[in-house]
Amino acid sequence: MSDFDRTYKKYLGAFNAHLEKFCTSLVCKPQILKDSLVYSLELGGKRVRPVLMSAVADIIGVGSEKVKNFALALELIHTYSLIHDDLPDMDNDDFRRGKPSNHKVFGAGNAILAGDGLLNTAYSLLFDECFRGNEYISAAKCICECAGIHGMIAGQSADLLHEHDASCDEETLEFIYENKTGKLITAAVLVPSILCGGRYYSELKALGKKLGYLFQLTDDILDVEGKFEKLGKSLGKDKKEDKLTGVKVYGLTESKLRVDVVGDDCIKIIDGIDGDTRFLYDFVTFIKTRLG
Ligand code: IPE
Ligand code: IPE
Ligand code: MG
Ligand code: MG
Ligand code: MG
Repeated sequence: MSDFDRTYKKYLGAFNAHLEKFCTSLVCKPQILKDSLVYSLELGGKRVRPVLMSAVADIIGVGSEKVKNFALALELIHTYSLIHDDLPDMDNDDFRRGKPSNHKVFGAGNAILAGDGLLNTAYSLLFDECFRGNEYISAAKCICECAGIHGMIAGQSADLLHEHDASCDEETLEFIYENKTGKLITAAVLVPSILCGGRYYSELKALGKKLGYLFQLTDDILDVEGKFEKLGKSLGKDKKEDKLTGVKVYGLTESKLRVDVVGDDCIKIIDGIDGDTRFLYDFVTFIKTRLG
C-alpha cells in the first residue's frame, strides 16, 4: 500500500467512525425519516471532501480533530445534494453508490425530505460549532455560502437550465463546474484555513476551484467511459439528459488533455504551500487516475 493509500484510509476510517456514531445516536420520528437519511449516508462513497478537509487541517497545523464536525456537516450536505440530484425531475438516476437511489427505495417525496433533513441537520451541527469562537462562526458561514445560492445550488440550477443548450459556451461550463462541484470542494479546503486565521487562504481557495474543475471534468468523462462496478452510478446519463458537460463542449479527446493541464495547474498551486504537502500532490493524481 502506498503512503497516500495509507493516509487516505486513516482519514476515511476516522471519518466513517465519526459518521457511524452520528447515525447511531440520531433520533427522529417517524422511522422512515431516519431510515431514509441513514440509507444514503451509510451507502459509502469516497468521502473525498471530509478526507481532503482533514488532510489540509493537518498540513497547515489546525489538526484534523478540530474540523471533524465541519467535515461531517459537509458530507451531510454533499449527500443531500446527491439525493436531490438523482430525483426524477433532476437527473433521474436510479443508482447511487452502487445501490438504488434514495427515491427508488423510499419514493420521491421521502427523498426530498431526506435531503431537506440532511441539510437542516448539517446547519444544526454548524451552529453547535459556532459556540467555540469567532473563527468557528466564519468557518460555518463559509460552508453555508458554498452550499447555497451563490454556490452548489447555483451550479445545480445552471446545470438544469443548460440541458439541451447547443451553444456549448465555455464560460457557462466553467460556471457550472465552479459552483455545482467546486464550491463544496472549496469549502473542504477553506474551513481549516479559516480556523487558523486565514493561513494560505488565497492558495487554498484557488486550489479548491481547480480541484473542483478537475473532479467534475473526470466525472463527465467517466459518465462516458467508466464502469458501473467502480462508479456505482448509471453511465451515459449526461448524453441522455443532454447536459452541458466537458465532453459536450470539448469532446472526449480534448477533455482528457485538459485533465492533464488542470492537474498541472493544481500542482503549481500546491507548490506555493509550505509543509508536508505530499498528500495533496498525490490527491491530484488520485483524481486523475480515476480515468484508469
Ligand atoms: C459525485 O460526487 C457528484 C459530483 C460532484 C461529481 P462524488 O464522486 O464525491 O460522490 P461519492 O460521495 O463518492 O458518492
Ligand atoms: C452533480 O453533478 C453535482 C452535485 C452537486 C450533486 P452530476 O450530476 O454530474 O453528479 P453525478 O454524476 O450524478 O454523481
Ligand atoms: Mg446533476
Ligand atoms: Mg447526476
Ligand atoms: Mg456526473
